[in-house]
Amino acid sequence: MPATDLEQIVSLCKRRGFVYQSAEIYGGFRSTYDYGPLGSLLLRNVKEAWVRSMVQQRDDVVLIDAAILSPPQVWQASGHLANFSDPLVDCTECKQRFRLDKLDDPDVCPNCDSKKSFTEAREFNLMFKTYMGALEESASIVYLRPETAQGIFVNFLNVQQSMRQKVPFGIAQIGKAFRNEITPGNFIFRTREFEQMEMQFFVEPGTDMEWFEQWKQLRMEWHLALGLSPERLQFHQHGAGELAHYARAAFDVTFDFGGTLGFQEIEGVHNRGDFDLTQHQQFSSKKLEYYDQLNNKRYVPYVIETSVGADRVTLAALVNAYREESVEGEDEGRVVLGLHPSIAPIKAAIFPLTKKDGQPEMAKGILNDLRMAFPMDYDESGSIGKRYRRQDEVGTPFCITVDGQSTTDQTVTVRDRDTLAQDRIDASQLKSYLAAKLVG
Ligand code: GAP
Repeated sequence: MPATDLEQIVSLCKRRGFVYQSAEIYGGFRSTYDYGPLGSLLLRNVKEAWVRSMVQQRDDVVLIDAAILSPPQVWQASGHLANFSDPLVDCTECKQRFRLDKLDDPDVCPNCDSKKSFTEAREFNLMFKTYMGALEESASIVYLRPETAQGIFVNFLNVQQSMRQKVPFGIAQIGKAFRNEITPGNFIFRTREFEQMEMQFFVEPGTDMEWFEQWKQLRMEWHLALGLSPERLQFHQHGAGELAHYARAAFDVTFDFGGTLGFQEIEGVHNRGDFDLTQHQQFSSKKLEYYDQLNNKRYVPYVIETSVGADRVTLAALVNAYREESVEGEDEGRVVLGLHPSIAPIKAAIFPLTKKDGQPEMAKGILNDLRMAFPMDYDESGSIGKRYRRQDEVGTPFCITVDGQSTTDQTVTVRDRDTLAQDRIDASQLKSYLAAKLVG
């Protein structure tokens, strides 16, 4: 049975070291979260899967890592200072604040049920502002980036020239972004500090819609390859009223989080046209054109953007993977995280069946060999059933057991998390056996 409530995921995340409320010992810092030992491995695996498919497995996309702090000129040019805002209303009865465009009924307060109690909507800019240097004056204002994309646009020429890139090509980046969201919530779904994995693909004007379609399909395939169920994934096309200030066309990849959340955006694919490069060209007075040597022409490239939240995909992967099930012949059921092996935080756990007869020594020898290739866990406490359950709950795809037979014939059993099938194999074959099953 899948999770029926996000609280089941939140509880597992805390219990098993995936995600904790930030500053919990001080009562918790609202809507910020810290990734624990297993959560940080899962998040890192999601990001590595993205880099593998976006950069490593392509000839035409390169990776950068730009600064988080940036001067106002960047955000003036990008349009974020003028346009990156949400309509904010206050309830005059209960004093709660809401995003007008997210209310089920714009005349009824969802907190206190008062009717017609909202103030006039006012635009609230979502960017975090701070000061650079010792003086808190207007000349030293800087912003925390609300999207990583602008770090790519301002480096377009640097990358194109230093890497001798020819259009069409892309620049990818993973990094933190910050938005002073009016209504953060739903665990790590909407927070004020989050990580984006963005790629801007620079193309010749006129070829943009073809590339847009291609990237749309490629991005859906990536989510499927990460193990998200096809029936939980859908496209949502932005209507004219929904489009961001920079977008000519946009599709969201949405995922069904279940419960009251339902289908929600996890990734946006946008045709940004030449909006950003033209704006930066104008505000910086630097030409941001591409010279097409072959056809002897200059142009400002159009951009197809793919923008996905690392935290949102991680939450989607957790929701998608969570299941509670009964086990034949056992009274107690089990909680399983059926994570795709490529993103599972621990790839295999090794157990000696007993703490004697040379079994722990043999198991530790195997552990030390395998941990050079895969993140591993070792557990010798409690019954073997309990040890399996502990690993099922954190998504470990394989459990290796050293038993009485192992110390005589050097074989071990490998149990599959999902099928519960056990193979007996030669310990010397473990590395290649696991490598074949863990390809991501
Ligand atoms: N550069 C385009 C851009 O930023 P977006 O649709 O605003 O587009 C892209 O954001 C993705 O970033 C979203 O699909 C989502 O996965 C993630 N994201 C946006 N705001 C977020 C928030 N407050 N918390 C967590 N993830 C967020």
